[in-house]
Amino acid sequence: MIDWNIMLTPYKQAVNELKIKLKGLRDQYQLTSRQTPIEFVTGRVKPVSSILEKAKRKNIPLDKLEEEMQDLAGVRIMCQFVGDIDTVVELIKRRTDFEIVEERDYIQNKKRSGYRSYHLILRYPVQTIDGEKRILVELQIRTLAMNFWATIEHSLQYKYAGQIPEKVERRLQRAAEAAFQLDEEMSKIRGEVQEAQEIISKTKEQDHDHGKR
Ligand code: GTP
Ligand code: MG
Repeated sequence: MIDWNIMLTPYKQAVNELKIKLKGLRDQYQLTSRQTPIEFVTGRVKPVSSILEKAKRKNIPLDKLEEEMQDLAGVRIMCQFVGDIDTVVELIKRRTDFEIVEERDYIQNKKRSGYRSYHLILRYPVQTIDGEKRILVELQIRTLAMNFWATIEHSLQYKYAGQIPEKVERRLQRAAEAAFQLDEEMSKIRGEVQEAQEIISKTKEQDHDHGKR
């Protein structure tokens, strides 16, 4: 019998630590005149019911979960623009607090479903009361449009228990194409958008300074 609470504790720790570290990057950008490539960060430990379902579906023995189920710990970084994803990947690769063990670019190679995202599998050291434990963490980096699509598609997968009707599947593929076009258009007006955002954040700073006087 697996004591899930005990087994998943280092995963919770890793998710919490990474969320803080990545949000820290965002805060650092906000103190500079550089636009942040990170819009927001989320993370989760896979719920036990999903672990059991996936283990069954993928024939993963429960005593091999920690090596074979790479997304027990999952962290997601959302970006405004596709170009930001490269910046974030570079930032991640320069870090020395974990190792990258796998890289999957579902943006250059989108999935048949229409799914796009950049995935990195990290080996992340967690300090436990029994010493260091190096666990796997799945890091997904995607735009807001990619995230919107993936979230909707995931709910439909859930609703249809993985058997989405062909008609809905085709709609989703078209929606994926529309999300792709949205990312393309936004990239083209990126300069405009960022100038607007700089003006807004400067105005906020000034309001804040006036408030202090
Ligand atoms: P699983 O897809 O998780 O069974 O693992 P895998 O070994 O096939 O890895 P893959 O890189 O394909 O997927 C890892 C994760 O990416 C998934 O757990 C999802 O979070 C996400 N993902 C992959 N494909 C899709 C997709 O078609 N739709 C959605 N919504 N998410 C996907
Ligand atoms: Mg998959």
